[in-house]
Amino acid sequence: MKIYKAHILFTKVKDKFEIIENGYIAVENGRIEGVYAHLPGHLKGVEIVDFGDKLLIPAMNDMHVHAPQYRNQGIAMDLELLPWLDNYTFPEESKYCDTKYAERMYRRFVRDLWRFGTMRTVAFATIHKESTRILMNLFKEAGMGALVGKVDMNRNCPESLAQSVQEAVKDNEELIQEFNQQDSLVKPIITPRFVPSCTPQMLSECGRLAKEYNLPVQSHLSENVGEIAWVKDLEPESRSYGDAYNRYGLFGQTPTIMAHCVWTKGSELELMKKNGVMVAHCPTSNFNLSSGMAPIRSFLDEGISVGLGSDISGGHDLSIFRMLVYAIQVSKMHYCTNKNMPFLSLSEAFWIATKSAGAFFGKVGSFEQGYDFDALLIDDKELNHDNYSLLHRLERYIYLGDDRQIQHRFCRGIEINEPQL
Ligand code: GUN
Ligand code: FE
Repeated sequence: MKIYKAHILFTKVKDKFEIIENGYIAVENGRIEGVYAHLPGHLKGVEIVDFGDKLLIPAMNDMHVHAPQYRNQGIAMDLELLPWLDNYTFPEESKYCDTKYAERMYRRFVRDLWRFGTMRTVAFATIHKESTRILMNLFKEAGMGALVGKVDMNRNCPESLAQSVQEAVKDNEELIQEFNQQDSLVKPIITPRFVPSCTPQMLSECGRLAKEYNLPVQSHLSENVGEIAWVKDLEPESRSYGDAYNRYGLFGQTPTIMAHCVWTKGSELELMKKNGVMVAHCPTSNFNLSSGMAPIRSFLDEGISVGLGSDISGGHDLSIFRMLVYAIQVSKMHYCTNKNMPFLSLSEAFWIATKSAGAFFGKVGSFEQGYDFDALLIDDKELNHDNYSLLHRLERYIYLGDDRQIQHRFCRGIEINEPQL
């Protein structure tokens, strides 16, 4: 057992912060034993790590990111989704048949997640089994949590990225045998790229794998208007894009996260709600690919769970703190045209990034008893915090801070040091 002392801020519920000035968090076997304003009698004598005048907050969770698009981060922003995939994304992902290249890039990627305080990640890899294994092992080596998907795709892409269904299943099963261990921080997630990339047979095998091995599922949903029209053509029997996944057992039959959902409404929204599908909101990607503005307020009102994703390289920014700012800003643009849709408060956005997202990994994202101790220590003194309240200090860090102010990072109770390149 160990006790950490600092100013503690977190969100149990979306509407307000819990703020404990000079509070204590007791951690045992990686999990939170309790959070206290005053040290209780039963903890007297336990070692205390006193961080002083700094902020201790839950670590960030990136619910949607493409590790193999890391080299394209911050470039090639001149196209919408479908031509962007063909011209920039598929050619880059094709390079991951080369495991040396993959390792070099994936090391940078994991190191930079670490830099920005992201301790849990839901990632797409590529179709390549060996490279995917490298990424999973790098997360393991770092001690950071991740659900990593070997991508499945077999149509409407270059030959270098198309796999036969049989081959895809075999590769998935091999990675599942190797990595699907209880309590492991790094696990596989079934990852059909999106409907246009997968034949019905591929989708149905993905659904079978998810069910047979009880694995979560991730994909893309209703991101771009052209994409949605294409899916309608490809899957004429389905009532909505989401229904197409649903028909193959890929829409909440096991825990499912769908990126974007910019244009989700009507029966698709109802199905998401009914099946408990989580939305990965990726505001920077939606800006850069001119996709649109996801209606996060409506999702919250409907009780649909939401997390935030960087979606590198559609998105350009790996910081989930920054994503929280963009999510608030998107909601303010919605508010400009519809005053009945209140914009997101800071506590709502923080809760989305931490506790709401964290639920996809188990008890993650809050400082409540039994939760994994995933935490960041923020030393914000260089942001001139004289006379600011603790909440304003956190707000300023979220808006203005970066990796330089993150002094310590913990994942499931273990301090995570900088991964080596
Ligand atoms: N839809 C299918 N593949 C992708 C991708 O790589 N990025 C984004 N943003 N959307 C996609
Ligand atoms: Fe994506």
